Formats: sequence, structure tokens, C-alpha cells
Amino acid sequence: MGNGIAHVCAQSGFDVHLIDIAQPALEKGLLTIGKNLDRQVAKGTLTDQEKSETLNRIQAFTQMNEGLKGVDLVIEAATENTELKLKIFAELDANTEAHVILASNTSSISITKIAAATKRPDKVIGMHFMNPVPVMKLVEIIRGYSTSNEVTETIMEMSKQLGKIPVEVNDYPGFVANRILMPMINEAIYSLYEGVAGVHEIDTVMKLGMAHPMGPLQLADFIGLDVCLAILQVLHDGFGNPKYAPCPLLVNMVTAGKKGVKTGEGFYSWTHGTKELIVADNFKK
Ligand SMILES: NC(=O)c1ccc[n+]([C@@H]2O[C@H](COP(=O)([O-])OP(=O)(O)OC[C@H]3O[C@@H](n4cnc5c(N)ncnc54)[C@H](O)[C@@H]3O)[C@@H](O)[C@H]2O)c1
Repeated sequence: MGNGIAHVCAQSGFDVHLIDIAQPALEKGLLTIGKNLDRQVAKGTLTDQEKSETLNRIQAFTQMNEGLKGVDLVIEAATENTELKLKIFAELDANTEAHVILASNTSSISITKIAAATKRPDKVIGMHFMNPVPVMKLVEIIRGYSTSNEVTETIMEMSKQLGKIPVEVNDYPGFVANRILMPMINEAIYSLYEGVAGVHEIDTVMKLGMAHPMGPLQLADFIGLDVCLAILQVLHDGFGNPKYAPCPLLVNMVTAGKKGVKTGEGFYSWTHGTKELIVADNFKK
């Protein structure tokens, strides 16, 4: 996600400091940005000159202190882990000037909680980009309990400068995107678990019947079943409502290490790549 955010910011004319603690992750990120820009050039949506200008606006850092020098906005997109984000935000607060806005790309962690790790909760906000960032138009802008109107307006405006369509939402579990998406995915898994229909049938109903570009089980494989489970747990804990309880089949699959595309198997088998849809052996009729 970090490379996608850096890509759209740099392409929109912002100078970007890309920070990651892992040098290989930085190198991979820069390589991905280069490849994605090449694709845009091949499609004719970007010139060669715009591509090199975009790349020239990105500087990479492994030391947070170095990378934070002179910035006006931080968009954090580190691993989805509450303790890690709280630690990072305390560090960001200590190492940036007072005017700097601190945004998080978290999918599910409370912005209010992240903001409470800083001394500037009015300047902490959620910028939830969708994957893949250069392609997807939406940015869900999440106002924490103390986020100021001014900061919200600045970030809404900045998101438009990135060519995105920002939508403002309040900070409650799952925000809007995952609060609606994850119960749908969970219900699809329940339908499979209860034998209502097979993997292919469930996805086909939702693709052809609801005009979704891909079925919920395929989407779950792309997102990662562990990520889906973690977000359902946030909804379940946050609202205390049993309707968000993760399906036992989802829990079993994550426990068995079948997490979707990233592990080669989820509801589908992905060992042949992501183009061909092959139902995983466990779900073959
Ligand atoms: N993957 C998605 O589809 C998606 C969609 C929307 C939002 N998000 C959110 O975006 C964030 C990142 O997700 P991802 O899928 O890109 O994760 P990822 O695990 O692929 O990448 C996270 C990166 O953060 C780096 N990192 C870890 N600790 C760090 C630290 N202390 N300082 C600097 N860098 C550090 C890691 O080295 C890694 O390269 C998460 O909050 C996730 O919830 C993900």
C-alpha cells in the first residue's frame, strides 16, 4: 500500500519521502512504482517525461528521523498491528513539527486510539486508500473523535489533488467500507459452510446477479483470509454484536494456513497464478 500511496502522491506533484524499516521492502516498493508507471506509459496515460519526474520526486529512507525532516503530512501505511501503530504515532509526534498532519491508512484500527498516542489528536486522521492505490478512486477519510474540521478539509482537498474521490466518515469499528464488506464476505463463507452452494456458485451469483467485478470468496482470497478474520474480530469486539462473529470455517482456514492468494490457497487454488479460477481441493464437489 505504501508504494501505491507514494506513487499517486509523486505523480500528483508532491515531493515524497518513502520510509520503511526494511531496505528490501523499499527496493521492492520502488521497483513496483517503476513497473506501474511503465504500464501507464505503455497505455498512453503518462509520458516518459512525467514518469521520470514522478520517480525523481521520491526519496527513500530506512531511518524515520531522516525521512521526517521537512515534511508537512505523514501517511502511515505500516503493518496492521495496533501496538506497532501506537508506537509509530508516538514517534511521529515526537519527530515532526507541530503543524504536521499525521494520517493513517489503517483498515480497521481506531483513529481515535491512534490519535491518543500523540499530543496532537486534532491533527490525526484516517486516509484509507483502496488496493491497488493507483487504480482505485476512493479514499475513505476517517475523522477521529478529536480530528479538527480544518484538518479534515485539508485532507479532503489533498485527496482530490491526488485524483481521488474522498468520502468523509466517522471513526467507528470497520468505518464504512469494511463494516459493510466484511459481513458480506462472512455471509458468503457461512453459505459455503452450511452447504447452501459451492464456491463457484456463490461467487457467480454475486458477480452476475449483483454486477460485482468478482465474487466475495475470490475477493476474500485477494484481501487475505487472516486480514478478513482480523477485521471481523474488530467488528465483533467493537460492537459486541454476535452478527459479526467470524464463520468457524474462516477461523479453521486461517488456522490451517490457507490464507488466500498470498499462501497459494484459500477458497481457490492460486498456485497457477491469479488469472485462472480453480476451486481449492477442499471445496471441490
Ligand atoms: N493490503 C490491502 O489491501 C490494504 C488495503 C487498505 C489498507 N491497508 C492498510 O495499509 C497498511 C499496510 O498494509 P500492507 O498490506 O501494505 O502491509 P505490508 O505488510 O505489505 O507492508 C507494511 C510495510 O510496513 C513496514 N514497516 C513495519 N514496521 C515499520 C516501521 N516501524 N516503520 C516503517 N515501516 C515499517 C514493513 O517493512 C512493510 O514493508 C495496513 O494498515 C493495512 O491495514 C491495506
